[in-house]
Amino acid sequence: MVSLPHPIQYQGSKRKLASVILNFLPNKVERFLEPFAGTAAISIAVASKHISQSFWLNDINKPLIELLELIVERPEEIISAYSNIWNEQHHDSIKHYFEVRENFNQTNDPKLFLYLLARCVKGSVRYNSDGLFNQSPDKRRKGTQPDKMRKNIEGVSALLKDKCRFTSLDYREVLAEAKSSDFVYIDPPYQGVCGNRDSRYFSGINFDDFVLILEQLNQRGVAFAISYDGKRGTKTFGLPLPKELGLKKIEIEVGRSSQATLLGREEITIESLYLSPNILHGQSSELESYISKAARQPTLLEMYG
Ligand SMILES: C[S@@+](CC[C@H](N)C(=O)[O-])C[C@H]1O[C@@H](n2cnc3c(N)ncnc32)[C@H](O)[C@@H]1O
Repeated sequence: MVSLPHPIQYQGSKRKLASVILNFLPNKVERFLEPFAGTAAISIAVASKHISQSFWLNDINKPLIELLELIVERPEEIISAYSNIWNEQHHDSIKHYFEVRENFNQTNDPKLFLYLLARCVKGSVRYNSDGLFNQSPDKRRKGTQPDKMRKNIEGVSALLKDKCRFTSLDYREVLAEAKSSDFVYIDPPYQGVCGNRDSRYFSGINFDDFVLILEQLNQRGVAFAISYDGKRGTKTFGLPLPKELGLKKIEIEVGRSSQATLLGREEITIESLYLSPNILHGQSSELESYISKAARQPTLLEMYG
């Protein structure tokens, strides 16, 4: 796949996995739903392959969804705002970052958010207990150059303009409306390996509610795919999804840890993709044979990387 536009730097973005994930999705769908859209990396890839002409992008993070909407529907406005904010940093870039951050925490202005995301440590969104954005600036980088940002924003807008519905709801409200003619890509927040192994919550999401809503999707004949935590070395992340959901698990190798290699351990990180039973209905036998081949192939990225 040719390199896809990506204006928003975001920890957890599926941009690098998009071409592998797309291999497991249908060739045509009426409407593509992302209840945990983040940067909409998979919808951008789906649009580039003409798999769908209609999208519903939802994320509980309101400034993030407003930013996506600006990028898609009013690209010139956000391009010029980014360029102005970026150019203001020359005098004292770190001080400027903290001023923008403070301003964002008072206004939630999505234009300021794009600059913060471009400029903060690893595109990693962090909030304090009062809900204020508190991530620090990356001292080694100045953030994407305005020219490069322009190209990325124009690229995303060209793919998605006038095709999307944007909302900032809890994912359950979106899934409650999913129809059997839709396809849903579900990428919930990272569960991590630390903390209480028995916790039924991950980043505010109740695991039992999550499973219940997947059962309901199955019953209503809605096809979906879930990116779910995987494993690194011998450590497994995330509570296991119940067998009764009838999901097909695909393991995708996403990298090898250089730190572990230095210590003489071979640590491979695997992310799991779960395909719902309805995904194969109406699909070509090509996809079925691809899935059975892939299921036997532990290092997918070596095939497609
Ligand atoms: C792993 S990220 C998605 C990344 C996305 N696939 C991408 O490529 O950028 C998970 C997203 O879920 C959102 N989120 C967390 N809780 C949510 C909820 N209850 N309802 C909807 N979105 C939620 C977070 O704001 C975050 O953007």
